Amino acid sequence: MIRGRDIVKRFGPTTAVDGVTFDVMKGETYGLLGPNGAGKTTLMRLLSALSPLSSGGLVVAGLDVTRQGRAVRERLGVVTQQDGLDTDLTVRQNLETHGYFSGLSRRESRRRAAEVLAFFGLSDRAHDDIDHLSGGMKRRLAIARAFMMAPDVIILDEPTTGLDPQGRNLVWDKLAALKASGVTILMSTHYMEEAAALCDRIAIMHQGRILDEGTPDELIERHASVEVAQLRMVTDVKAEVQAALVAAGYAWREVGTMIHVAARDGQRPQVPPLEGVRVTYRPGNLEDVFLAVAGKGLGEE
Ligand SMILES: Nc1ncnc2c1ncn2[C@@H]1O[C@H](COP(=O)(O)OP(=O)(O)OP(=O)(O)O)[C@@H](O)[C@H]1O
Ligand SMILES: [Mg+2]
Repeated sequence: MIRGRDIVKRFGPTTAVDGVTFDVMKGETYGLLGPNGAGKTTLMRLLSALSPLSSGGLVVAGLDVTRQGRAVRERLGVVTQQDGLDTDLTVRQNLETHGYFSGLSRRESRRRAAEVLAFFGLSDRAHDDIDHLSGGMKRRLAIARAFMMAPDVIILDEPTTGLDPQGRNLVWDKLAALKASGVTILMSTHYMEEAAALCDRIAIMHQGRILDEGTPDELIERHASVEVAQLRMVTDVKAEVQAALVAAGYAWREVGTMIHVAARDGQRPQVPPLEGVRVTYRPGNLEDVFLAVAGKGLGEE
């Protein structure tokens, strides 16, 4: 459904996307993870035919984004990092106007808006001003709007940033239902739990490049250990503990007041008994992967 080859995007001296090659299959949910400034939004704008490539090839739903940008835009639902809702219009008018300007008849826009509002749990807010919605409701409405045209591919730039856990879960439920209906999804996120829950495959981006790509399980197997020891210092022994970990050859990182320890062979780290330290174990996760791959992670390099 998406086929990108050596995609480059430059802004003057900045290379925001630096030779990205990737494929997304029909029905797949593909996630972009990467620190601030990695190039996720820029790549999504290229895909949405909102900004031209500097070089490379990009085909979406069989259409070339450079030569057939307009047709590409008609096949996509796009949710940008900022909601981009029209504050002069009500909730329902935002959807209807979008449908109408995208080529639906007025009657069809009305019908579809009612459907989409119901699906996203916003029917009772249909006549509200945008400014009267909470942040979470605005986010839901922005996602709802992307579904007005029953798109083949939906592009979601940080769909749940700023939402409370309840709001996030609601969006996850809706995205899972849409995914089950066969829509192809490309999304970016800073929430590892979200990526693990929704994405079939994930690309880790850094400085405009994809550093690695795979299913969540593949990435965890490749870059994280099966289990990570979490050390909580009961007394002030951090320096001694770190010295002991270095001596034992473990990779570790500080997480607030805790230290997370991974074995370099990927197995369960056998942390030696340390005075004043409470140790618990948890499975390796995508956060370990992300920090290891994006470079600021485990270990005293
Ligand atoms: N219109 C622009 N003009 C100049 N530079 C830009 C423009 N848009 C993005 N950039 C630069 O491109 C790089 C990638 O930015 P981008 O917004 O794609 O990152 P991102 O991965 O989406 O980050 P975030 O997680 O913060 O949203 C940054 O260095 C940014 O400053
Ligand atoms: Mg961004």
